[in-house]
Amino acid sequence: MRIFQLIVLLYLGTAAHAATVIYDFNISWVTANPDGLSKRQVIGINNRWPPPKIDAQVGDRLIVNLLNSLGDEDTSLHFHGLFMNGSTHMDGSSMVTQCPIPPGASFTYNFTIDQPGTYWYHSHTQGQYPDGLRGPLIIHDPKTPFQYDEEIVLTVSDWYHDRMSVLQPHFLSKYNPTGAEPVPNSALMNDTQNLTVPMVPERTYLFRIVNMGAFAGQYVWIEDHNMTVVEMDGVYVHPKETTMIYLAAAQRCSFLLKARNETARNFAIIASMDRTLFDTIPPSLNPNVTSYLLYNTTAPLPSPNLLDTFTPLDDTHLRPRDNIGILPPPDQTITLNISMSNLASGANYAFFNNITYTPPLVPTLYTLLSSPNLTTTLHSTIYGTYTNPYLLPHNSIVQLILNNLDTGRHPFHLHGHTFQILHRSAPNAGPWSWSDNNSEYNHKSPMRRDTLSVEPNGNAVVRFKADNPGVWLFHCHVEWHMLSGLAVTFIEAPNILQRTLKVPDDHWAVCRGKDGGRSVPVEGNAAGRGTTDGEVGEWLDLKGEPKPPGNLPKGFTRGGVVALVMSCLSGVMGVGVVGWYGFLEPVETKRGAGERSQTGVSEERKSTGGNDGVGMFNGAVSAPSKKVPDVGGSLLIPVVRRGTEVVDSEAVSFGSETAAVDAVGARSMGEAEENRKGKKDVNGDDAMTRA
Ligand code: C2O
Repeated sequence: MRIFQLIVLLYLGTAAHAATVIYDFNISWVTANPDGLSKRQVIGINNRWPPPKIDAQVGDRLIVNLLNSLGDEDTSLHFHGLFMNGSTHMDGSSMVTQCPIPPGASFTYNFTIDQPGTYWYHSHTQGQYPDGLRGPLIIHDPKTPFQYDEEIVLTVSDWYHDRMSVLQPHFLSKYNPTGAEPVPNSALMNDTQNLTVPMVPERTYLFRIVNMGAFAGQYVWIEDHNMTVVEMDGVYVHPKETTMIYLAAAQRCSFLLKARNETARNFAIIASMDRTLFDTIPPSLNPNVTSYLLYNTTAPLPSPNLLDTFTPLDDTHLRPRDNIGILPPPDQTITLNISMSNLASGANYAFFNNITYTPPLVPTLYTLLSSPNLTTTLHSTIYGTYTNPYLLPHNSIVQLILNNLDTGRHPFHLHGHTFQILHRSAPNAGPWSWSDNNSEYNHKSPMRRDTLSVEPNGNAVVRFKADNPGVWLFHCHVEWHMLSGLAVTFIEAPNILQRTLKVPDDHWAVCRGKDGGRSVPVEGNAAGRGTTDGEVGEWLDLKGEPKPPGNLPKGFTRGGVVALVMSCLSGVMGVGVVGWYGFLEPVETKRGAGERSQTGVSEERKSTGGNDGVGMFNGAVSAPSKKVPDVGGSLLIPVVRRGTEVVDSEAVSFGSETAAVDAVGARSMGEAEENRKGKKDVNGDDAMTRA
C-alpha cells in the first residue's frame, strides 16, 4: 500500500505538467446565418455558435460536462481521431459505446490524451452534426518537431440551409430511390465566409485545417503560397511541399506556410467543394469559399482564380515522421464490399457486405459488458446481425480490403486507431485482387491516418494493430451514408474490456427514461435478450432485434423502383396513377429541401466526376521534400494559456459571433479576437477552466 501511494506520488510529481482541462457545454438551439443567405436554427454551445475550439496539450485530461438543452433531440459527442485507449466508453457513438443523451440530461466525458495533432469533435447521434454541433479539437505538443511562429486553425465545411430533421426523412425515403444526397447550399471557412487572416511578412505559420463537413470533400489552396504538409489526422509526416490539398469529410491536415516578404498585396485562400460527389449542381450553388491572407489592410482583397481541375497532394505518398514500418502480415483479413441498393421500403440503403447498419436495442458496449461469461462475450452473434460485428483478438494484426462497388468516392473512418494505407487504387480499378500485387506492398513505412478517401469503383487495403480494447465503428464519414447504414462494428479484445472497464454512473443514468421518457436497455444482446446470469442460449437468440426493411420483392430491380417512383410523381402531376405499397401518400408533403429538383432524379446515382479514370490524386504534383525552414525567435503557440485562470471558450481563429450570425463581409481574425475579449465578461458563461 505504501509503495503504491509512493508510486502515485512519484507519478503525480512527474506528471505535474499535465493539466486537467474542463469544458462545460450547454447544448441548445440558437440562430445563425453563416453564409448570409439564410438564417436558420443551429446547434450551439453555451448559447453561441460556432462551437468553441477545444485546446489541450499532450498528457492532459480533458473533461467535457455536457448538458443537453436541445429540448427535442438526443445528442452525444465524439472526439474524432482520439484513440480513447482504456476509455472506449468515452468515444461518444450513440448506441455503440453509450446511450443517446436525452433532452434535459447531462453526461461527462473524461479521458486523457496522449496524441498531439489536429482533431475535431462532433455529435455522433442520428445524423446530427451537420446542424452545427462540431468544432476543432487541437492537441498541442510541447515537443513539436517543427518550428513556427504562430498557429492558425481553419475549418472548412459544407453547409445546409435546412435542418437535418427536414432533410433526413426525405433522403431516406422511397421518394428518393436513387439515394441522392442533399446538395449543400454553401461552403464555409471557420463557419463564416470572407475571413481575413492577418499576416506578418516572413513569419512561419502553422495552419491546421479540418474538414468538418457532412458530405463534401474540399480542395484547399492558397494563391501564390506553398504549403509544407507536416501532419495529417494527427500523424506527423516528413515535410512535403505542395500547392493544394484535398480533405475528405473528417480529414485534417497541418502545414507550414512561410509568409511572403512583401506587404503590397493580399492573397486568396480557397476551399472548393468536390462536386463529383453531387448528383445535381444547382445553378445557384457557389461551391467555393474564399478567405484571405491579409498582408495589407489598405490593399484590395483579390478575387480568387477559381479552378475546374484540381491536382492535390496524394496523401498515400506521405511518410510518417516516426518511420514506423509496415505491420507484419495480418492475422485476420476482412474484405468489405461497399454497395448501395434499395430495400422493400423503396429507400436507398448503403451496405458493407450486403448488411446495412441498423442500431441495436442495447448499446453494443453494454451488450459486451453485461454478457455473463466468455462463451457469450466472445460470440459475435450477441452483438446482432445488423451492427455488422467483427471480433478482433487483442494485439492481432487486422487487414481491411475495401472494395468500393459504388460510383461515389467514400471517406472511411476507423474509430480508436490510425491504419496504415498499403494500397489505394485509381478510380474504376474494380475490386482488389491479389494478383494485382503479389509482391507485397511497396512501402517500408506506409502512411497512417484515421480517415481514407476511397475512389469510385476503386479499392484500398489498410492494416492496423488491434492494440486498443474497445467497441469501435468503422464507417463512411459522409453523414448521409452513416444514416443509410454504411458502418461496421469492431469488437476489439472484449475479454479485456469485460475485466477492466468501469462505466461511470452518469453514463448509465442517461439510459433510464426519466419522467416517462423512453428508456434504453443496458443489458442483453442486440435484441435485449439475456441477463447477466442468464443462459447462453438466451444470449444467442436475436428474435426481435432491430432490422432494416426487407429485400425488395422478387422481380423488383432498382431500375424498376426508380421507374415506379417516377410514374408516381407523374401520377401526382395528373398523368397517371400507380400504386405500390404506400406509394399513394401525397408526395409533396414528403419533400424536405425546397430547392432540390425531383425531376433531376435519374437512374445513374452519381454525376460523371470521378468516373473518368483520372481520379483526384493522379495529377498530384509534389515537389521533393524541402527542409522545414528554421525560424529564429521563440516558439509561439498563442492560443493556449495554461494554469488555473479561466479562459474564454471561443477560439481565436473563429469569426466572432457577429461574423457568424449576420455577416459575410470581410472579418479579420484579429477583430474577432477583439470582439471576443470585449464580450468575455458580458457573457459570463465561459466554458473553459483549467485546473
Ligand atoms: Cu468523426 Cu464515427 O466519426
